[in-house]
Parts: sequence; structure tokens; C-alpha cells
Amino acid sequence: LNYDVSRDRRYILELLFNGLRRLEYRGYDSAGISIDSSSIHPPSHHDSPLVFRQEGNIESLVKSVYQEVSATDLNLEESFSVHAGIAHTRWATHGEPAPRNSHPQSSGAGNDFLVVHNGVITNYEVLKQSLLRHGYTFESETDTEVIPKLAKFVFDKANEGGDQTVTFSEVVLEVMRHLEGAYALIFKSRHYPNELIACKRGSPLLLGVKEFTEGQNKGTSYNDMKFISKNGHPKELFLSSDPHALVEHTKKVLVIEDGEVVNIKDGGVTILKFEHGKGSDGKSLSRPASVQRALSILEMEVEQINKGKYEHYMQKEIHEQPESLTTTMRGRLIRGGSSKRKSVLLGGLKDHLKTIRRSRRIVFIGCGTSYNAALAARPILEELSGIPVMMEIASDLLDRQAPIYRDDTIIFVSQSGETADTLNALEYALENGALCVGITNTVGSAIARNTHCGVHLNAGSEIGVASTKAYTSQIVVMAMVALAIGADTISSKPRREAIIESLLNLPGKVREVLKLDQEMKDLAKSLISEQSLLMFGRGYNYATALEGALKVKEVALMHSEGILAGEMKHGPLALVDENLPIVVIATRDQCFSKQQSVIQQLKARKGRLIVMCTEGDAAAVCGGSGRVIEVPLVVDCLQPVVNIVPLQLLAYHLTVLRGYNVDQPRNLAKSVTTE
Ligand code: G6P
Repeated sequence: LNYDVSRDRRYILELLFNGLRRLEYRGYDSAGISIDSSSIHPPSHHDSPLVFRQEGNIESLVKSVYQEVSATDLNLEESFSVHAGIAHTRWATHGEPAPRNSHPQSSGAGNDFLVVHNGVITNYEVLKQSLLRHGYTFESETDTEVIPKLAKFVFDKANEGGDQTVTFSEVVLEVMRHLEGAYALIFKSRHYPNELIACKRGSPLLLGVKEFTEGQNKGTSYNDMKFISKNGHPKELFLSSDPHALVEHTKKVLVIEDGEVVNIKDGGVTILKFEHGKGSDGKSLSRPASVQRALSILEMEVEQINKGKYEHYMQKEIHEQPESLTTTMRGRLIRGGSSKRKSVLLGGLKDHLKTIRRSRRIVFIGCGTSYNAALAARPILEELSGIPVMMEIASDLLDRQAPIYRDDTIIFVSQSGETADTLNALEYALENGALCVGITNTVGSAIARNTHCGVHLNAGSEIGVASTKAYTSQIVVMAMVALAIGADTISSKPRREAIIESLLNLPGKVREVLKLDQEMKDLAKSLISEQSLLMFGRGYNYATALEGALKVKEVALMHSEGILAGEMKHGPLALVDENLPIVVIATRDQCFSKQQSVIQQLKARKGRLIVMCTEGDAAAVCGGSGRVIEVPLVVDCLQPVVNIVPLQLLAYHLTVLRGYNVDQPRNLAKSVTTE
């Protein structure tokens, strides 16, 4: 943050804490912050920045900071005309959640260099060994700690001869040269007061610009970098890995690209491009070039990132699905005209449809819920395209180095657009020459930028770690992709039109199924003390079983498995007794009679059944015995969108009743930006 207007220390702390609160969904096992110890401008080089780190969520950090502040008589009213602060919330990868493993990580006593990091440094062991040989000692088990130590090493070496001539950017450029892996980094140093350096490779990073004209932000429009730095208006500058921390301050952002180094100093910004490669001496880099780029405007509203009338984000996101589905479809379904033609228009895909239709195969790649959504859409894509559709979990594709061909179309599905496994798979597919299509909810994300074409979900921000509204929007987008690919096949026209008609009615059907909220709460009460819950599905709803079980295990912390009903007799049947609760999805489609026979077999073994069936089918499906969840009927390929909703509600209520944190499930994070 940089000011030309005075702000007190309390304001600075609260601003950083609020930023962390907005990012908490990305990691919440420990957090840290660094602010200046003195407001003397420029602070003496000997003033070490203050660092506070705490295990637990953001509020534990806030509490401990204020406790420490009052214990040390640090003046909260002390006023700053320029200040550079950094903060971080962590999802532990290397080293348990503990203050010593939290960020900022430090170069050692005196905090010469401090670093916050999103990502993973893959060669940290090598760097650590070499720093140990140079006498550095390490206090954490993190990969990150090598970065500030390396910065200090570079700085000390450059200044061996006497005066400090090396710039902060030069130090960071040199550090970057040694780092392998993925990172977005912010550096703070006592040697460079009022200055921050940020850089990135692989992990996302945004620069936000808020400018005050005569005390308020009048929304001046910016076109060029020079407006950011030299127009003399007081300003606040923000760096964040995620727009959620910025949107309440400004919508004007600059998306930082890989290899760029951002230098914020006394209210001005310079961006240098770090050119990969080696110079004539085989070591140094070519001279970094300065970058000029237009600001973009965030398409996000502050209301979107608040809970509104709901208690939890997950609850809000489940209930807003009628609206999120509507925005996902907006402008993309065309009905009417003189011929009453119904069709689909996907702007981001239309120029590539011919190539896709000629593909040897279509491969879906994703992780977690995004994988499940692709699985739900696979049957309709196979049916309408006539092309074999394969499923790949991103990490598994990479583990196997599975063959990818030039005439493959690979569809990458990711809510965040930043999941490391999916991104690595994208890089692999690009190297192998396949056509890469992205389906993400995040405009400007790495997957959106690095694929050849794609479709955005437009579902709005999803903050609950357990994905809900993104899942249903993903299925709808992929159904629309199937419709677009199949649009030149005359024989399937009636089928396509029936699907489009059903898509248009889908938000209404989801609104209906949301009325099961209380019923699902009652069901959750009856399951609260169970150890395990199985879910059986097949055909279109195999994915529903997997996704329903994923929701229950990730938030309610109850063991749950989704099982392909066709495989029941090949193993899972051994588990069935009168105690184990089993959800069977048996809504109307071509698998209905097979599911009826599954129910009979489970009943014959005294299975404790909860049957999900189409409205009016209860008696036919389970003869009046057992628990029933009745859902409205929609066209078969969209039924998974309706069927998942009661299971989302069930997982939500189970979690709340069991006393767990719905929005921050144990050990999980929303965007997994490390392998
Ligand atoms: C994490 C999240 C899941 C999500 C998965 C894939 O594991 O906790 O909710 O489904 O990542 O994320 P993506 O952003 O790629 O869809």
C-alpha cells in the first residue's frame, strides 16, 4: 500500500486483515502480517519491519496482533504518509501449520528480507543446501524460507564492496533466476523502505489501483501505466493473488504476467519483464524491459462476495443456483425467429467447432468437483458429437504421461482456472499439440488465458470451499458445448431442441427442488451420528453419486463413497446390512428399470435405503417403505443438475448439525495451486 495521504497504523492493520478475510477461503490454517515499525519518512535503514504470525484462522492472527500491540505500547494512532505492508493466509503444504511455518518468511534476525508466497518452490532443497553451506540457518520446514534467505545472500554479495548500489528489483530478478516451481511472491525489505516488489511465475497475481481525487475515488479512467504513477493523486496500490481482496477497494486491476516484476515505490509502479534465458556470460539475464499495459476492470460486485441473508457461503451458493444457472445460459440459448429455431451460441467456441468435430477423441480433464461435472456431461457429449469422450483426472494423466494426439480436443474444466494439476495437464496437452478448450468460472485465470478457446461459466464468485453452484453451471455449459458440437447433425435436431427447452426451464426446476431444504435437514438429523454413507448411481447419475459423496466427505467429515450401481454386485454389496445408510438415485431415464432391480437386491439384504426418485414415483420405486427424496423431472441429461441439489443440502445440514465449519472444511482449500 502506498499513500500520499496520512493513515494511521490501525487503518493499515485493518485494511490488511480485511484483505486476508477475503482470501481466507483459499487457506486458513495459519496467517501472518508485516508492517513498518516506524513512520519516520524515510524510515531509517536500521528499522526492522514488524512481523506477526499465528497458527489458526485470520481472527486468531487479529487477536494476537492487537494483544502484542497493546503489550508493546505500539501506537495505533501513529500516522503514515507512505506505508508498505504485506500479509498472507496459508494452506500448509511444506511444514505443519505453526507460526514458524507461516508467512511472511524471513531472511533471519532483523528481517532484512520478508516474503509472502503462493505456490511451491520445487528446487528448494538444493537452494537450502547451498545456503546452509554459506552459514544460513533455517527455522521453518517451508519451501518458501529459501527465498528471503537467497535475497539476503544476493543483497550482501552485491554490496560486498561498500555502498548499497543494487536496487530491490535487481535483487529479486536475481532471486527469480534461481527459483523453480510456481510462485507469486511479494518482497518487503528493511533496506528498501516504502517499497514492495512482487513477481510471479505460474501462480496468479493482480495489481489493484485506487486513486483518490480530492479525497474520494471518482472513478477516473486509466489507459496507460503512466497514469498510475505520475499524476500526483493520493493512492492506494494493492497486490493480491485473488480479486476478492481487491473488489471492495477498486475494480481497476492489472493482471500481472509470468516473469514480470512489479516495483511499488512511493506511490508509483514500474513493471519489468524478466526474460527467461541466459546472457553472454552464460549466467545473467538479458536487460529487463519495462512493461506498459492497460488496466482492466473487474467484473465483480462487492455484494457477490458477501453472505447476504445466509449464514454460510455454501448455503448461499446452493440457494442462488436458479440465478447462477440463468446467468450461465444468458445470451447463449436462442429460441424463436420465424422458424422457431432453437440453437446454442457459444462465442468463445464458434470458430473452433469444425476442428472439434474432426477430433479423433475428446478428453475431459479436471480435479474434484470439476471432474465430476465433466463425468455428468460425458454421456450427452458422446451422444450428440458421436466422438469418443474420455475422462482424465489431471494428476493421473500426468503420472501416466498418457498419450495425447494432435487431433485430440482436450477440455479443461476448472472453477478457479488455477488448479496446479489441471494447469500442468494443460501445459502437457499444449506441448503435444492438442486443441485445448477451457471451461472456467474465472475470467483472466491461467486456464482461461492459456487455452485456445473456451466458455466461461458466468456463475459469479464461488467462495465456499465445497463447490456447488459452479458444479451445476459446469454441467449446463458442457451440455451447451455438446449441443454446439452436434448442431450440424440433422437427425438429432428434435433431441437438441428438447434439451434446449429443458435448459430454459431448468432454473425453475432447481427453485422447486430447493424447497426440499427442511426435508434434507430432517434427513441430516437422522444421519448425524453415522460413520458412513454410500451413494449408488448409474448412467447420467453416476456423477451425482460421486459428487454427492464428495460433498458429504469434504464438509461433513463423514466417510462417503459414490458407487457405480452396475458394480454393486462386484464388491460393494458385501457392505450392505440394516445399519449402513445408502442413497440410491433412481430418477426416470433409460437406467430406471436397472436401478429398480438394484433397489430390490438391496432390500433383499435389508439395506437401509434412501431413494431419490422422480416426483410421483415413490410408491412404484420403493413400495412405500424406506425414505424417499422426490425431485422434479427434467430431460435425462440435465437430471444431474436437479438431483445434486438435495445432496448438497444434505451435506450442508449434516455439517452444521455435526458442528463443523461448512465454509472452511478441515485440511482443504478452494484453489489448490500446488501439485
Ligand atoms: C479443490 C477444491 C474443490 C475443487 C477442486 C478443483 O480440491 O476444494 O472444491 O473441486 O479443487 O478445483 P477447480 O478450481 O479446478 O475446479
